[in-house]
Amino acid sequence: MSILKVNNLGVRFQTNDGMVNAVNGVSFELGKGQTLGIVGESGSGKSQTVLSIMGLLARNGSASGEVLFHGKDLLTMGASELNAIRGDRVSMIFQDPMTSLNPYLTVERQMTEVLELHKGISRREAKKRAIELLDAVRIPEAARRVGMYPHEFSGGMRQRVMIAMALLCEPEVLIADEPTTALDVTVQAQILTLLKDLQRDFGTSIIMITHDLGVVAGLCEKVMVMYGGRVMEYGDADSIFYHPSHPYTIGLLGALPRLDHDGSELVSIPGNPPNMAHMPKGCPFSERCTHSLERCAQELPPLQASSHNPQVIRACHKPAAELAQAAQEVAHV
Ligand SMILES: Nc1ncnc2c1ncn2[C@@H]1O[C@H](COP(=O)(O)OP(=O)(O)O)[C@@H](O)[C@H]1O
Ligand SMILES: [Mg+2]
Repeated sequence: MSILKVNNLGVRFQTNDGMVNAVNGVSFELGKGQTLGIVGESGSGKSQTVLSIMGLLARNGSASGEVLFHGKDLLTMGASELNAIRGDRVSMIFQDPMTSLNPYLTVERQMTEVLELHKGISRREAKKRAIELLDAVRIPEAARRVGMYPHEFSGGMRQRVMIAMALLCEPEVLIADEPTTALDVTVQAQILTLLKDLQRDFGTSIIMITHDLGVVAGLCEKVMVMYGGRVMEYGDADSIFYHPSHPYTIGLLGALPRLDHDGSELVSIPGNPPNMAHMPKGCPFSERCTHSLERCAQELPPLQASSHNPQVIRACHKPAAELAQAAQEVAHV
């Protein structure tokens, strides 16, 4: 039984340059305790996908499709009902902790305020719970540090505080939008381990957004690869890592450091993501694709089950079998 079921989600922005279709036809399901990774370069539509789920699109944006949370559509829900869910049963951690932490309030006040509001518990109880959570995200001396202001924490510690804030109400779904991008590699690894532990302890379902496929390895059951506001490939993590069937996924995997290589062959995908206001007619990736066929620039490939692997859906004109060789070269073992 899925907790979150997204059907044909679309996000459009009204701009001076015309209509921007930032997200098109995104569908996925998230079960209890499952983790979905959403991966793609900057500007692929990852953040807008989850911001629309949270009802947090910019004013010039609008969402279409369905976002069913326990069967109820968040997109058509009234503000008060949505507010009761948001931050309580579904919560989000952002790339920059300062966007969601108030610099003028101590961590204690910020955490107890949320608990008093959503859970109606006393200030004293709330403080106890806040300290427990800071402990859970491995902040040393939590009982003392709970009284500190956000700027008194280091970057990595601030990120932990934000995760603790997001977990305050024991959300069923935690959305993490590039939660480790600004951190150094060691701290990144610690935060990811922490999320995994918390998931085990609380049974939280997680949506993890990143531009780095390496981050989702070992963390996610399902991976969705986005580009140009569309799903390029979606499937179980093993298929994506060991048998990628889309040239864009193959390109992303080729840009990852590997244990069995010395790193000298690391190549990022040449070229840049397209401008969303002027999307190509066909496949958004066609201009940069080394496997493209003549029709790729003209005809948008439909997102459909792979003939090669029933666990995967893909949007590519080139048969998966013809990409097997290239896939083998980048597959992560
Ligand atoms: N308020 C806005 N107005 C117009 N276009 C926007 C707005 N916000 C985002 N976009 C468009 O949506 C695209 C996808 O953005 P986003 O989901 O943030 O990408 P990312 O994959 O890096 O998270 C951007 O490249 C931009 O063109
Ligand atoms: Mg983003």
